[in-house]
Amino acid sequence: MDKKITIAIDGFSSTGKSTVAKRLAKELGYVYVDTGAMYRAVTLYMMRKVFVSEGNFDQEAIVRHLPFVSLNFVFNDDLGYGEIYLNNENVEKEIRYLEVSQQVSRVSAISEVRKMLVEEQQQMGKEKGVVMDGRDIGTVVFPNAELKIFMTASTEQRAQRRYDELKGRGDDISYEDVLQNVKDRDFMDSTREDSPLIMADDAVEFNNSRMGLDEQFEKILKIAKEKIAAANS
Ligand code: DC
Repeated sequence: MDKKITIAIDGFSSTGKSTVAKRLAKELGYVYVDTGAMYRAVTLYMMRKVFVSEGNFDQEAIVRHLPFVSLNFVFNDDLGYGEIYLNNENVEKEIRYLEVSQQVSRVSAISEVRKMLVEEQQQMGKEKGVVMDGRDIGTVVFPNAELKIFMTASTEQRAQRRYDELKGRGDDISYEDVLQNVKDRDFMDSTREDSPLIMADDAVEFNNSRMGLDEQFEKILKIAKEKIAAANS
């Protein structure tokens, strides 16, 4: 049997990471793990408890309640990937609301939150055969991943993509709010002290401002196949 590899896909928000990662996982028969969904689900839990809101951020309470947060992915045959469950409730849709996006960077800057989720992610990928997308996969979660991709695109293009996605599912939002959120998260995700978003030295960078999704996918698939062949030689 073919030896499997670990594929880490990192980058700024709304660069199309998850689209490529899902497609790649499907093509290779690997498991796709959306680590952003995990940070979002923890944030949603803390928002429901009102430890996090526009005017409130109770870090001590967040850390104290972490043991009550249970996350798992349940494979959805129709979608072709796992949806996230928070304490046995499917929260795949709710975690994408702009209100959650506006709080998630603050919650994901907390070291205790990161420690818990990184351990869960390492556990999920320990058998390899995984495509994981996030911010720190190639630097912290799997520094020895055989393939690391770092995705970028212009801020405006990313905001437009996110806006179209949210509008498409009926959310009542403005482009300006989405653009501001993308900028705020870029800043917070790349300047936080614990595991900031940075490109790993051995990552391959893809700027998809100038590249179509199909072209990008084909290029990444080709590199992935080369890495798999190398792992089996
Ligand atoms: O990929 P996303 O936009 O759904 O991620 C949501 C937030 O979660 C992102 O703004 C920062 C945080 N995150 C993180 O800190 N580390 C990861 N590996 C994935 C996401």
